[in-house]
Amino acid sequence: MSAGVGGTAAVLHGLGERLVLEEVRWSEPAPQEVLVRIEASGICRSDLTVSRIDNGFPLPLILGHEIAGVVERVGSAVTSLSPGDHVVACPVNHCGRCRSCRIGEPFRCSDHAATQRRADEEPRVSADGRSLTQFIGIGGFSTHTVMHENLVVRVPRELPFHVACLLGCGVATGLGAALHSARVGPGDTVLVIGCGGVGLNVVQGARLAGARRIIAVDRNPAALALATELGATEALQADEVDVVAAVKEITGGGVSHAFEVIGVPDTVGQAMDALRKGGTAYLVGVQRPDAVLGIPFRHFFEQKGIRGVAMGSTVPHVHIPEYADLYLQGRLYLDALVANRIPLADVNDGFDRLLDGALARSVIEFA
Ligand code: APR
Ligand code: ZN
Ligand code: ZN
Repeated sequence: MSAGVGGTAAVLHGLGERLVLEEVRWSEPAPQEVLVRIEASGICRSDLTVSRIDNGFPLPLILGHEIAGVVERVGSAVTSLSPGDHVVACPVNHCGRCRSCRIGEPFRCSDHAATQRRADEEPRVSADGRSLTQFIGIGGFSTHTVMHENLVVRVPRELPFHVACLLGCGVATGLGAALHSARVGPGDTVLVIGCGGVGLNVVQGARLAGARRIIAVDRNPAALALATELGATEALQADEVDVVAAVKEITGGGVSHAFEVIGVPDTVGQAMDALRKGGTAYLVGVQRPDAVLGIPFRHFFEQKGIRGVAMGSTVPHVHIPEYADLYLQGRLYLDALVANRIPLADVNDGFDRLLDGALARSVIEFA
């Protein structure tokens, strides 16, 4: 057993149960790993989902995957990071060597196991000699983490930790969907259905791309107010208006890009209906893998397309430093996305806020 470091983590022992604070032990980083002291950790909806529904992650499990912190130690083969670096984690887990990685598409990596320790190696984190699972190889609801260097991106020191942590998941997913998956540009007309943590960042991405119109749709008026603050040019309340008719009227026939950012079949249909000829719908919202979407053929006769999107087609080491710059220049708004700053001991309250339909993020801070 190597020296490692002791700390505290919020641990999930059974699906649907509350997280329990425990003393844990992180092992010494292997050659390609880094030990990070976590300063801030965002509570993302997928943490909540995985705490309630079996997604195949062995228990006990340390959730959390949206972190910012400071590198404390680096493994012997790490050359791009040093102790003292401020970093964020990005869950675009990638080996760096497969074909997708080599052609600049790490979000399509075919070898996720390459960045994890093998079962016969010492576990990265344990409690009382029992090994714990790190969610997405990160395990962010914890004072420390040991991660493969490919998941770790250096960010400027001026970036406050409580907003920096959002860059890796919520911001990368939403901003990237508009900027990289869809490559929105000036003159484009954009529809964003669902303006939660991710959809609000699709709105921001479309604004940064210079889209001509950005139409936000949500059934929650508070979400629409925030969407307007972040760049929507029109806001439509889902249960009050005929969304498709309103979009067609505003745009004179339909949008070029429609983003579904909820994850339900009905709104996928709405996205397709609201497209102009030749437009494309992007499915950012996650549905059950076996969900069946009934898409009428007339859409394809009108040359429309439909595309799945994951993690906003993010290339972590290229895009995250760009987003950090945009924030520091005042062009990317992140402060409005943090509603609540809490200690690790209140992590279960953060989950409760999500269950209550809270809009913006709760961020755990480690003082
Ligand atoms: N019509 C309009 N708006 C809706 C509807 C509906 N039928 N149902 C939900 N909404 C709105 C909610 O009011 C909320 O503002 O959609 C938004 C969803 O936001 P969040 O719950 O915060 O979810 P978010 O974290 O943004 O993720 C959305 O994207 O990446 C995926 O896995 C993620 O599937 C999830 C989706
Ligand atoms: Zn996330
Ligand atoms: Zn790869």
